[in-house]
Amino acid sequence: MANSSTKKWWKNSIVYQIYPRSFCDSNGDGIGDIPGITSKLHYLKNLGVDILWLSPVYETPGYDNGYDISDYKKINPEFGTMEDMERLISRAKRLGIKIIMDLVINHTSDEHEWFKKAVAGDEKYKAYYYFSDGKDGKRPNNWSSFFGGKAWSKAENGQYYLHLFSKKQPDLNWHNPDVYEEVIDIMKFWLDKGIAGFRCDAINIIYKDSLKDGKRRLSLIGREHYLNTDGCHEILKRFNSDVWSKYKTFIVGEASLVTPDAAKLLSDESREELDTLFFFEHMEVDNRGIKWLKKKYRPSKLIRILDKWQNVLEVPTNYLENHDHIRSVNHYGNTQKYWEKSAKLLCGLNLTLRGIPFIYEGEEIGMTNGDFRGLRDIKDIESHNINQSMKKMLLLHSIRRRIILRTTRDNARTPVQWDDTENAGFTTGEPWIKINSNKSYINVKAEEEDNNSILNFYKQIIDFRKKSSALLDGSYRRIASPNDVFIYTRESSDERLYIYCNLTGNNKAVEFYGDKIVFGNYGEDERKDIYLKPYEFRIVASNI
Ligand code: NOJ
Repeated sequence: MANSSTKKWWKNSIVYQIYPRSFCDSNGDGIGDIPGITSKLHYLKNLGVDILWLSPVYETPGYDNGYDISDYKKINPEFGTMEDMERLISRAKRLGIKIIMDLVINHTSDEHEWFKKAVAGDEKYKAYYYFSDGKDGKRPNNWSSFFGGKAWSKAENGQYYLHLFSKKQPDLNWHNPDVYEEVIDIMKFWLDKGIAGFRCDAINIIYKDSLKDGKRRLSLIGREHYLNTDGCHEILKRFNSDVWSKYKTFIVGEASLVTPDAAKLLSDESREELDTLFFFEHMEVDNRGIKWLKKKYRPSKLIRILDKWQNVLEVPTNYLENHDHIRSVNHYGNTQKYWEKSAKLLCGLNLTLRGIPFIYEGEEIGMTNGDFRGLRDIKDIESHNINQSMKKMLLLHSIRRRIILRTTRDNARTPVQWDDTENAGFTTGEPWIKINSNKSYINVKAEEEDNNSILNFYKQIIDFRKKSSALLDGSYRRIASPNDVFIYTRESSDERLYIYCNLTGNNKAVEFYGDKIVFGNYGEDERKDIYLKPYEFRIVASNI
């Protein structure tokens, strides 16, 4: 029997997320690809990465950049071939890097064979999805979609079908045992090729309990019928016993709107479902109910949320960025005055909390939000759908523009800036999306050459972490956090670290009176032991 630590081989890993379209283009078509990823494996190894999470690389019409899959066993030709993928897996393996893939099973593309056959009238495949004639010619229920608008559209056969995301992404019917068998087969196909697990997209919404009308609310009407249902737990347990446990995988689920209680049910080890999951509360810290309506970001709230989740999950995921959110330095830092300082602080925070750190491509060089000129620069289907919904509400173009440019997912999808040349070393062709003009100073090459760069800071902290028993296996305890300074300890039997994160653009002073920590501002008091500059991150080792 594997004991818990061999079973959890992934527990002390650093995970790096690649959004392939924007990572590195090897053939000059302006779109990142798999050989491009392979060409950067040494860079990733050098950074200290143990696991790569690849956002979808499967065949797709690309309406949601690969989260709309038309064939789960083929590679998107824009990204390369199956041989390219196999080469990537084996080269990574040689360097000791494991790969997990995105598993998108709440929905397929409407261009998947299954859906096409279903619309053509094949009963077997109609039962893979949710089709309905509707009520008196109207939609079958009042559910709304994650991307704005309604969750039902009409297919060519005249019937409605359910899609919780765009109408190009019909939801699979997880009541159907054939769907389960298909997905098991897909997972084995990839695991047999040597991948180490999956990041399961939208996993806590796959199983719909009923198709009744949902409660009226601002967004996601209908959610009480599909969030964290018993049926979903049942499926995860079966995945685990039928496949995951046999391959010793690492499985991380994306769990939208998840509460601490629901998260425990999805990921506590004894329940044998997910290994861990992504929660979203910290990413939504400045949302007013929906992400398009923002309020002021408050560091104290971020601290409260992070602290809470440290104590919820057995192995927390730590992440401040991914392909669905704006860049962390724009979100929680200050790109104007303290770009470098705040990017380093966020690095320190992400890599010293308890759990697995996830770094999103470009985060390690402090990439910032896109500098888009207008809506015409935006590619994301979600942004376009929301724009349409806001248009229907008669919002002015200038207002829609401001809201979308501030929040669009494309902010995190601009190409990785490898150097300061015209196309940032990303492509020799025309990039599929605008490259940020700050590539002139935010780029890998420049930061590799500068000992004090954000990139080198990442390397140092990763290195420190890999040797620190307190960071790898120690407990976490928040000491205090008034004045927006987050102070916590990480402690193992032979190492105790005090970690100070000043999440503000102001000087802070932390004073020790015996065991008691007091906070103040410069010049207020005689006794001051630790001064923190704006966005300063500091680790202090103390004797045990
Ligand atoms: C979550 C993914 O992260 C996002 O990019 C995608 O649009 C939706 N799920 C739908 O698959």
